[in-house]
Amino acid sequence: MSGPNTSYDPVRVAALSAEEVERMRAAGVAAVQGAGSLEELKAVRLAHAGDRSPLALANREIGALPPQARKEAGMRVGRARSEIATAIARRDEELQTEQERRMLLDETVDVTLPFDRDPRGARHPLTVLQERIAEFFVGMGWEVAEGPEVEAEWLNFDALNIGSDHPARTMMDTFFVDPPSARTVLRTHTSPVQARTMLTQPPPIYVVCPGRTFRTDELDATHSPVFHQVEGLAIDKGIGMSQLKGTLDHFATAMFGAGITTRFRPSYFPFTEPSAEVDLVCFVCRGAEPAVDSCRTCKGEGWIEWGGCGVVNPRVLVACGVDPAVYSGFAFGMGIERTLMFRNGVHDMRDMVEGDVRFALAFGSEV
Ligand code: PHE
Repeated sequence: MSGPNTSYDPVRVAALSAEEVERMRAAGVAAVQGAGSLEELKAVRLAHAGDRSPLALANREIGALPPQARKEAGMRVGRARSEIATAIARRDEELQTEQERRMLLDETVDVTLPFDRDPRGARHPLTVLQERIAEFFVGMGWEVAEGPEVEAEWLNFDALNIGSDHPARTMMDTFFVDPPSARTVLRTHTSPVQARTMLTQPPPIYVVCPGRTFRTDELDATHSPVFHQVEGLAIDKGIGMSQLKGTLDHFATAMFGAGITTRFRPSYFPFTEPSAEVDLVCFVCRGAEPAVDSCRTCKGEGWIEWGGCGVVNPRVLVACGVDPAVYSGFAFGMGIERTLMFRNGVHDMRDMVEGDVRFALAFGSEV
């Protein structure tokens, strides 16, 4: 009777020989490391760690070995399988991390890309010019004063020596605000700010008031029912025409450049006496002598009209509570649209009114 085959040598079972197990282990580990994606690793797992992998099949042969040989063969196969399992786990982690990193890169939204349908805005050149003018006067120690656009008729007219039967009232093309009994108007000029300032603060007064004004004009190349003026008022002891002239010459140079001075032409405003129209040296032909007839800016005059000015009428001082025996003053008023037209070669009022950003953009954010 023959006993169990105690001398069975596992080396002789080809699949369980140390070299063969080592070859299968090395092939498995190499395949795992060679897996370039989770997809590939899945195939490698099936081929080298699955139920039908060479090591799994070899494992099945162990049962056929004699008992004393099983332990060693089992340990050998088990070690090889666990090494492959460890390699798979490590590679799986690496590939997962890599996939996440790639996903983050792929899905990154570059918020710095230029977006050409987002239109750029620009400050309106009239606003910038108003600020420039205000800054010029603030630089000389003046203050900026403000007043309402819906104004009391008394301040817009009466306080400025424009009585209810004064022809200047009809010349001013006024918008009256309902109801008529409220006696309010859309201010026709910034001059009511003169009156408001004198009524609220004692002299000396040096204020400049840029702001919106209204007259019943049709919108065309040179008129707009809504426009802007800048009013200046100085009230102090010993103020007269010479200080007014010096101030406006300095203002003109600041706005239009060196050499652009002013000239006064006698005129009439109810709130100033004497009154004058202010002209600027034409900054295109610079008033060349003999006159350049072809100059389109001044039409050969050498001068262009800029605004009105004068010494404050004592009747206005009295109406606003300032003692004309002690104080005197000057006032001036210019159109800001007109100033922008001269200064920057704007030819049509409507360009300034329509609010097309392309017009404003041409000035950049500065004037
Ligand atoms: N307020 C005047 C106008 O609108 C301008 C002006 C202001 C004239 C101050 C003289 C003094 O026409």
